[in-house]
Amino acid sequence: MPDHPSKLFDIQQSLEYHHRYSTDLGSLYQGDCLNFLQAIPSESIDMVFADPPFNLGKNYGKGINDQLLDAEYLEWSYSWISELIRIIKPGGAILLFNLPKWLISYGSYLNQAGMMFRHWIACRMPKAFPRGKKLSPAHYGLLYYTKGEPSTFNKVYIPIPVCRHCGKEIRDYGGHRKKLNPQGLNLMDIFDMPEEVWCDESLEAHSTNQLWTPAEDLWDDIPTVRHSKHKTRGANELAPIMLERLIALTTNPHDLILDPFGGSGTTYYAAEKLQRRWLGIEIGEIDPAIHRLQNLHQGQVALWESARGIV
Ligand SMILES: C[S@@+](CC[C@H](N)C(=O)[O-])C[C@H]1O[C@@H](n2cnc3c(N)ncnc32)[C@H](O)[C@@H]1O
Repeated sequence: MPDHPSKLFDIQQSLEYHHRYSTDLGSLYQGDCLNFLQAIPSESIDMVFADPPFNLGKNYGKGINDQLLDAEYLEWSYSWISELIRIIKPGGAILLFNLPKWLISYGSYLNQAGMMFRHWIACRMPKAFPRGKKLSPAHYGLLYYTKGEPSTFNKVYIPIPVCRHCGKEIRDYGGHRKKLNPQGLNLMDIFDMPEEVWCDESLEAHSTNQLWTPAEDLWDDIPTVRHSKHKTRGANELAPIMLERLIALTTNPHDLILDPFGGSGTTYYAAEKLQRRWLGIEIGEIDPAIHRLQNLHQGQVALWESARGIV
């Protein structure tokens, strides 16, 4: 087992952030991520995931202004993105979640810094109403870059989408449909999956006849709402399945993951489930993330409501 992240670097000594919680795999700090990132050595992290405030005027608590001028928001974003570029290992992955409006500038910044564009993943969002002369926004973006050729790109499979009412498949596979059939001979077939691939285990448990297909760059199966029985925190808690999929895609067990905008700790929770080491920081309320990790270790796993049922 590689060293615990807290043993790798001397990051506990600072006035701007302090250690709050650790597990066998990771450590969580409280404070400003910019100071924290500056304490991380160059080229030491295998994957970073960042889900910053979107500058939509939300209330994240004392000291966070989520209504900056566009130029100020981008200047702030570039300050932590440039740290992410510095700390990521060659071949490591940088994943940034935000509105398309901000991601086009983020992408341009990463391109200029010599990072390699891999994907713009569209994650379907809950129905929102258009404002003014605009289309109704239907997705958040997930930018996926690497520092040079990716060192890890694992196969990730998702269930073939079916209608939750009639059970029939939603997509038109054209002439390729037969290749998805369990009786077929194609690599896309679940029965031909190598053991190390990741799939949505909650669904697998529900249906033994499930057909699977490799993940695409449009994700419309990410739940947006927690099952009401498990609702603990209000806004901005991502579904673990999204982070599990990203972690499975871009890292291997024991790799080191960093998320500088911890929120309710989704990234750390998913990293624990998939046996990756992790480092995290959150400037505001941090108890929800700690409780989530504690619950996971006591076997309490939250359920989510998605377009394809409860997962
Ligand atoms: C969109 S939320 C992240 C939600 C998280 N992905 C989850 O699933 O729970 C953004 C978080 O970043 C935190 N934040 C904002 N500015 C920060 C900073 N400078 N350093 C660290 N955290 C910050 C906010 O308090 C908020 O919890």
